[in-house]
Amino acid sequence: MKVLVVGGAGYIGSHTCVDLLNNRFEIVVVDNFSNSKPEVIDKIKQITGKDFNFYEVDACNQEALEEVFKKEKIDGAIHFAGYKAVGESVEKPLMYYHNNLLSALVLCELLDKYNCRKIVFSSSATVYGVPERLPLTEDCRLSTTNPYGTTKLMIEKILEDLYKSNNDWGICILRYFNPIGAHSSGLIGEDPNGIPNNLMPYIVKVANKELPELGVFGNDYDTKDGTGVRDYIHVCDLAHGHLLALNKLAKENGLNYYNLGTGHGYSVLEMVETFKRVNNVDVPYKIKERRAGDIAECYADATKALNELGFKTEYSLEDMCASAWNYVVKNK
Ligand code: UFG
Repeated sequence: MKVLVVGGAGYIGSHTCVDLLNNRFEIVVVDNFSNSKPEVIDKIKQITGKDFNFYEVDACNQEALEEVFKKEKIDGAIHFAGYKAVGESVEKPLMYYHNNLLSALVLCELLDKYNCRKIVFSSSATVYGVPERLPLTEDCRLSTTNPYGTTKLMIEKILEDLYKSNNDWGICILRYFNPIGAHSSGLIGEDPNGIPNNLMPYIVKVANKELPELGVFGNDYDTKDGTGVRDYIHVCDLAHGHLLALNKLAKENGLNYYNLGTGHGYSVLEMVETFKRVNNVDVPYKIKERRAGDIAECYADATKALNELGFKTEYSLEDMCASAWNYVVKNK
């Protein structure tokens, strides 16, 4: 199967490219490097010892993306590309709606035009808004609290309508929980621009003394220790979920939704303590006010992905923390 990986130089995209190449998939990668670096393409080749075609293309640019479809005989696509910072989406909603919706529309139009109606879409647990119940199953109530989340939910709806209009489509919507960690080679990992918004990249920068201390956003939630609880999943486990989704689409059409998480919730303080213990580093922190829009707890029931895709996570929290740090140490 020849898979177009849109946003393949990004954090989850690059790890997925490695997993696909290691499992004999053929890939074609496009990225505009808006939130990733060109070196990543060579690193993917270095890790896997495999070659592939890369095109520097903005997925919103229909003409440029169509050139890729003309040159390559694509069987389906994974759509990773999109803006993903919650706070920024509140400040710049038009930028988020424009980029995230347009790139999805352009890609779907081309998949339709070139008769390769298979797509794996990067959605997010953010589509559950304030969780109706825990653990979250795919049929839980959907709602969003920020423009970023709304773009994910809108694209899910677009894909749903597309499938209703034509059952020739094979669609897997993957709702990611909190991906962290890095490939064991230390060659690829999470590399956000500027001051990170997310917990693990922030912890890493504090441990590396690039930032003085971590702010823990609230310790008065109704959780095990009062701090926020999330379902952290190793990025390599998450990446493998895409391969399993493609395997399903290779066999049958359909519209499928899957939670990709471990099913375990860890608190912010558990994350800090585990990171310190596993890597033998210091991570000073201070309890701060709650962050606007945060929820107390969020973790997956990933039984559906297990039953229908054979999705099982392999990496422990210790592995996630060790690999995140290994990436920094190797790239100092
Ligand atoms: N946290 C801190 N300090 C920080 C950063 C985060 O205490 O500096 C806490 C948060 O309050 C939360 C937990 O760490 O309790 C995780 O926060 P992240 O920002 O890492 O992750 P979120 O769960 O808030 O957000 C993630 C993705 C979003 C997605 C959301 C819901 O980053 O894209 O999950 O699925 F929308």
